[in-house]
Amino acid sequence: MSERKILARACAPGKVILFGEHAVVYGRPAIAAPVQQVHARAEIWSADACVVEAADLQQRVLVEQAPVEDPYAQIVRLTCEALGRPLPSWRIRVSSEIPIAAGLGSGAAISAAIVRAMLAAFGARLSQERISALVYEVEKIHHGAPSGIDNTVVVYEQPVWFVRGLSPQPFAVAQPIHLLIADTGVPSPTKIAVGDVNRAWKQDKSRYEALFDAVGDVAQRARNAIETGDVAALGSLMNENQRILIEMGVSSPELERLIWAARAAGALGAKLSGGGRGGNMIALVRGQDEVRVGRALLEAGAVRVIKTAF
Ligand code: MEV
Repeated sequence: MSERKILARACAPGKVILFGEHAVVYGRPAIAAPVQQVHARAEIWSADACVVEAADLQQRVLVEQAPVEDPYAQIVRLTCEALGRPLPSWRIRVSSEIPIAAGLGSGAAISAAIVRAMLAAFGARLSQERISALVYEVEKIHHGAPSGIDNTVVVYEQPVWFVRGLSPQPFAVAQPIHLLIADTGVPSPTKIAVGDVNRAWKQDKSRYEALFDAVGDVAQRARNAIETGDVAALGSLMNENQRILIEMGVSSPELERLIWAARAAGALGAKLSGGGRGGNMIALVRGQDEVRVGRALLEAGAVRVIKTAF
């Protein structure tokens, strides 16, 4: 296939869930924020057929022939359908700095980057709500029964208060929130953790509903703490959320090691972020403690530490 001129490029950020993962699938509120330090990218060239290439994964998908479960082909087809356009002859190249299966929303960010690049190449527009809805369709392939929080945060690119089925609500942040995001290096597909929680919920609904209620209550108090700038209270609430996540069965020894290392080094609070079982944890730090806590996380085995703030 001959390569021609570049038509468009676009990107989308990663995300972290600060409060409420898993319970959000069952209708409780959650708080999440974009992570602008890592991005997924999509670039489009004119070509002889519609092809998506995932450079990092050495994958090449011919969209016309790919099955509906192929997330790359599916987001391309859904975007064309939404715009009422035929499949274009494009080479769409995707790449990402966001680790896969690590709770940072890599799947949603790749889909969002593809939609944005396609809109730019077509010279077309869709509302953020429509883009988020398209990405959500593909999230179902990745996650099974996603709440919709990942697509919402990576598309709207702002901290949100999220309740399944409702429009996301931005909220005031009274004091900057400094976070360290540390990767256990253990890949953990969200679909598996979400499926396990669902099985456990089916076996003991009253226990799990009570855990989800407790998480919802923590998220509500966390929103108040963010809006009033009470970072010390926010840290304690992270620890409380983590205790409930342990009870849900989604923490892991690797996550616990990083969480305890962060707390011991002076983090105000720490918890897993995303599906759990592996992937990333977050630590809330005061600016002056950032370097010390970051070093402690690396010494405790983190494969990567990202600093972010919002
Ligand atoms: C994944 O980032 C967060 C979960 O709550 C799943 C979801 O909300 O779809 C574990």
